[in-house]
Amino acid sequence: MQTVHALDPLRSATARLRANGTLALVPTMGALHEGHLTLVREARRRADAVAVSIFVNPLQFGANEDLDAYPRVLERDARLLEEEGVDLLWAPQVSAMYPDGFATSIGVSGVSEGLCGAARPGHFDGVATVVAKLFNQVRPDMAFFGEKDWQQLAVIRRMARDLDFTRPHVTAIHGVPIVREADGLAMSSRNAYLSANERAWAATLPAAMKAAIARIEGGEAPSSALAALADELAAAGFGPIDYAQLCDAASLAPLDAPIAAPMRLLVAARLGTTRLIDNMAVSA
Ligand code: PAF
Repeated sequence: MQTVHALDPLRSATARLRANGTLALVPTMGALHEGHLTLVREARRRADAVAVSIFVNPLQFGANEDLDAYPRVLERDARLLEEEGVDLLWAPQVSAMYPDGFATSIGVSGVSEGLCGAARPGHFDGVATVVAKLFNQVRPDMAFFGEKDWQQLAVIRRMARDLDFTRPHVTAIHGVPIVREADGLAMSSRNAYLSANERAWAATLPAAMKAAIARIEGGEAPSSALAALADELAAAGFGPIDYAQLCDAASLAPLDAPIAAPMRLLVAARLGTTRLIDNMAVSA
């Protein structure tokens, strides 16, 4: 695996890889876990070569979010990627990504605004901006993102469509299904912040979501199924529930009643000081 930190060697490395077939990009912020490695394996399966980016993107952190505390473990991450057979690691410095005078921001209205976007103003602008830059820098044929961050994936799909990141640039954006622990909890680096008790209670989240989905699919009004979901989470020790919302899976428009198009249940709730998010498909 070749590791590059500057744009010129990146251009030569990606040109070499693209000359031999298709190139996939897996954008990450590092501190890799099994969820990221699943993205890498899926990329490996579908493309001839795989590039992974590791960049802790300051633009997507709010003033009250601790950018400095975000784990940076590049050597460990590089070892894991090497073991997965990754071809190229793109690990730019902040100054290479955002040189002095950098002044551009991509805002994706609508899909960025509710759910996590309401609690984290500017977050998805930061994500859309860095992902657009990564697409331009690496020019992959395909890119892989986890469905765990469903809203992020919806924002990126919208941005890529709106800004014409199509052939010969990114041809496809693949969402990779959530990887879950044995008790159903979605894998996340944040799970490490849960105490032993909180970790045991956390499994209530996916279980309560499944129960709410069964009620909605069985004909119950979403408002009443979601109220039962909120009660169940509160009883299991969850603190404020930021949102529990049935949405159109692509536009993320909130739904009061089921529709024929794909739907998604999205939840963000706090357990102690940890904010957990999860999402699941809902059938009409
Ligand atoms: O999901 C992440 O790790 C980040 O939001 C991403 C897509 C790499 C952009 O910084």
